[in-house]
Amino acid sequence: MEPLRIDPERLWHSLMEMARIGATPAGGCNRLTLTDADKAARDLFVAWAREAGCAVSVDAAGNIFARRAGSADDSEPVLTGSHLDTQPTGGKFDGAYGVLAGLEVVRTLNDHGVATPRPLEVAMWTNEEGSRFQPSCLGSRAFVGDTPLADVLAAADTRGIMLGDELERIGYDGDQPCRPRPVHAYLEAHIEQGPILEREGKPIGAVTGVQGKQALSVRVDGMNAHAGTTPMEVRRDPLVAAARMVTEIDRLARAARPDALGTVGMFAVEPGSINVINQNVAFSVDLRCPDDATLLALAESVRAAITAVASEQGLAVHVEDISVNGAVAFDERIVSTVERAAESLGYACRRIISGAGHDARSLAAICPAGMIFIPCDGGLSHNEAENISPEQAAAGADVLLQSLLSLTAQT
Ligand code: GLV
Ligand code: MN
Ligand code: MN
Repeated sequence: MEPLRIDPERLWHSLMEMARIGATPAGGCNRLTLTDADKAARDLFVAWAREAGCAVSVDAAGNIFARRAGSADDSEPVLTGSHLDTQPTGGKFDGAYGVLAGLEVVRTLNDHGVATPRPLEVAMWTNEEGSRFQPSCLGSRAFVGDTPLADVLAAADTRGIMLGDELERIGYDGDQPCRPRPVHAYLEAHIEQGPILEREGKPIGAVTGVQGKQALSVRVDGMNAHAGTTPMEVRRDPLVAAARMVTEIDRLARAARPDALGTVGMFAVEPGSINVINQNVAFSVDLRCPDDATLLALAESVRAAITAVASEQGLAVHVEDISVNGAVAFDERIVSTVERAAESLGYACRRIISGAGHDARSLAAICPAGMIFIPCDGGLSHNEAENISPEQAAAGADVLLQSLLSLTAQT
C-alpha cells in the first residue's frame, strides 16, 4: 500500500498565508516575539488548529498546544511543532515551517480518518529566536524546567519591557501551568539554515543533535568627552576597545577549531553622537562548537581577551553569561525513526548535526527528541531571502507524517 502523504498545496498555501503577517518589502518576515505581528500569527494558528478539530491550550509562558485526541487518549502525547516568532529581518520558513507542517499532519490524518493511539500535539513555543528577549528558546526552557517561569516572565527587551507584560498585553498569558509533563516523544521539522543538504542533493536530514552554544553580554565603560578638544592621549574611548575585542573574538573562534564559530550580533554605543567620545559600549557574543571542550576553552579565551584589552586601555568591563549550553545528542530511536520514514517514502536522507539552536534541544531534557531538516536555498536563513520550494516543504512534512504515525502508535 502507498504510504500516506500530506497535501502539498494546502501546506504551501498555509506557509504563504502565515508569511503575510509581518511581511517585509524584501520578501521576508518581521514577527519579533510578542509584538502585534506575533499575536496575529498566533491567532491564525489557533484558528486553523480549532478548525482542524484540535483542543487548544496556552500555558503561563505563552506556549500554545493544539491537541488532536488519540484513541488511547490518556496515554502520553507525542509533540511536534516549532515557533512563529522571527528575527527582525527573518524569512518565511524558520519556525513557521515546523508549526505548519505539524498542522498539515493533523489535517491529513483528519482527511483520511486516521485515529492514532497516542494523542498528537502541535506546539508553538514562545520566544524561540532570542532576538527580543535573551536567551533564545525561553518558552521551551520554561516548559522543561530548565529556566524558572518567573525568570522567563521577567526577561526584559532593550526598552525594559518585560516578557510577562507583553504576554498579558497580547492575551497569551495562558491559564495552563508551564512545567514539565509526561511527553512520549518530540519531533520538530525545520529548514536546515545551512548549506549541507542542498550541496549534497539530499531532501531530508535526520538530525543527530545540536551543537553547544555560549552567549555573553559585554559592557565596556569609558569616559564621555568632546571629540574636538580631548587630546588622543587622555581619551578613554570604549568603542576603540570594543572594536579590538570584536576582532579578537573573530580571530579566537577561527583559531579554536575549523568548526568553531564566534559572532558579535548586537552592538550599541552610548550616547552615539558624531562629535562625542562614547561613555559606554555594549555588545553580545555568540560562540558555538559541536565539541564541548573546545567551546569551553574558546569562551575562556574570549573572556581573557576582553579583560586584557580593557585593562590595556584602562577601562572597566563587565561580562555576563546570557546562556551556557553544551552540545545535545538526540535520541537514537528518534533519529532512526526519521531515517526509516524517509526511506519508506523514497527520499534520500543523511544524518546531520544542527548548527542552530532549536526548541527540540530543550525538549531533549524531558523526552526522546529529534528533528527533521529540509534544505533551504543557498543555506541562507536569518535573512529575508530565506527560501524553500513547495516540493522541499512537502518532502519534510511527509517524513514528519510517517514518523509521527510510528511514534503515536508506540506503546
Ligand atoms: C536560534 O536560532 C539560535 O540558533 O540561536
Ligand atoms: Mn527556528
Ligand atoms: Mn531562527
